[in-house]
Formats: sequence, structure tokens, C-alpha cells
Amino acid sequence: MGAPGVGKGTQAELLNRRMGACHLSTGDVFRAAASRADCEQSPAMQAALGFMRRGELVPDSTVWEMVRERIGCLQCGGGFILDGFPRTLGQAESLQQLMESEGLALTAVVSYELPASEIVARLGGRRTCGKCKAVYHVTERPPKSEGVCDRCNGRLFQREDDRPESIKVRLEAYERSTAPLIEFYKNLGLLVEVPAKGSPDDIFESTFTKLEARRVREVAQQVWVAVENHRY
Ligand code: AP5
Repeated sequence: MGAPGVGKGTQAELLNRRMGACHLSTGDVFRAAASRADCEQSPAMQAALGFMRRGELVPDSTVWEMVRERIGCLQCGGGFILDGFPRTLGQAESLQQLMESEGLALTAVVSYELPASEIVARLGGRRTCGKCKAVYHVTERPPKSEGVCDRCNGRLFQREDDRPESIKVRLEAYERSTAPLIEFYKNLGLLVEVPAKGSPDDIFESTFTKLEARRVREVAQQVWVAVENHRY
């Protein structure tokens, strides 16, 4: 979780590389649909892409349909990372029900935080590879050769929703609909808060350290419960 541009995608990619978990980004799925021909898009998807361009949230029903189509991701042996989903209370509740019916549980919900001025600078300088979707920043994470992806030589472009008017709408949507989920996941004991200041590698290390500490605590707790059960 985190406001637009806080670095969720960058961190999800780093976690994915370290843990081999399936990375499901709802934003990436919508952008992939946007690159298809109009005739290949359902009316619901065309409407969803309109919301996205304006910086508004896509309606829950469309998002949910798309997540359900990718349910296989949740069964990945290396686990899964949800990036940009859930974003509303309705989505969080539907996810909860789905997880229960699949016999799964979330390990943690990582929430990244950064002041709004730095978020705007990150979004304004973002460039994305049109081919492999790698993410760069013109000053903070520049490619070796301007406008060209280091990984696949694809052309880099600026996202349509990174224009100032869309950024404003996205930040408002985050405050209104998504920020309340912080309390929701805090109450479930799942929230892991990570400051998003510093280099991507530093933020990744603090994320990973916090997740590991949490895992060790949980294993210790399970061992403790097993020992107690054995005693009585
Ligand atoms: P989505 O693609 O999820 O966009 P977002 O949440 O607005 O997040 P971003 O992808 O913009 O930013 P990020 O936090 O991933 O940052 P990044 O790592 O790229 O969603 C797009 C749209 O789809 C939504 O607006 C909505 O319309 C729709 N949508 C998607 N999911 C939905 C849902 N569940 N419900 C309803 N609608 C939905 O980093 C940003 C930049 O900063 C990059 O240039 C990066 O290189 C740089 N950077 C990253 N980390 C650092 C660092 N530590 N220091 C300096 N620069 C950094």
C-alpha cells in the first residue's frame, strides 16, 4: 500500500526478485489492456481505462473481475505480492472472503509513506519501458542511455496519468478511498509501516528486515503454542 508514486512497484519488483513470489499489479494489468486494439477490449475495460487516464479509481466490480481471472497467482509456490490492490474497503473485504475460500491468508500488508512534495517529484520523473515495463526515474534511477531500457532496449515513455492534473486526482482518490485501509489492516494486526525515504535498495532492506522479523516472531509463537499444548 501507499500513495501513487511512493515506490510500491519498485519495491514489489525487488521483493519479487528476492523471494520469487508472483507479482500481481492491478495497474499493470490495466495498462496491458490499454495496449490492446479497441476491438479486443470489453466495454467494461474501455470504461476502466477512461477512469485510469483521468486518475480516478476503476469501479470495484471491474477490478474484482480482473483479479478473479488471475486467481492462479494466489496459489504460486513462492507466495504472491499484491501491488495496488486492494484500494477500497469493498475490495479488501472481497479479498478477505476469497482468501478464506481458498484456504489462504495474508502474511503482511506493507504501507509506504512519503511527503506529498516528494511523491510529485517521483511521478513527474518516472519513465517506463514500453516492452518489459521496467521503471526508471530521470534523475534518481536513470537508464544508462537516455530513453532506452537497460534490460531489453525498449523505448521509455511517460505514463499518461503522470500529468499534473491526473496526479492531483490520484492523490485525492488515495486519501479518500485507500488511506482508510491502513486502519483496517492495523486492526487485523497485519500492518507493517515503512518510511519510503532513501534509495530503493535501502527501503527494500528495511522492508525485508521488518518482514523477516515478523516471520521469526510468528514461528516463535507457533513453537510456543505447540510446546504449551504438549505440556497440558
Ligand atoms: P497503479 O499503476 O497501481 O498506480 P499507483 O498506485 O498510482 O502507483 P504508481 O504505479 O503510480 O506508483 P508506485 O507507488 O508503484 O511507484 P513506482 O515504483 O512506479 O494504478 C494506476 C491506475 O490504475 C489507478 O490510478 C487506477 O485508475 C487504476 N487502478 C489500479 N488498481 C486499482 C484498484 N485496485 N482499484 C481501482 N483502480 C485501480 O515509483 C515511482 C517513481 O519513483 C519511479 O520513477 C521510480 O523509479 C521512482 N522511485 C521509486 N523508489 C524511489 C526511491 N526510493 N527514491 C527515488 N525514486 C524512487
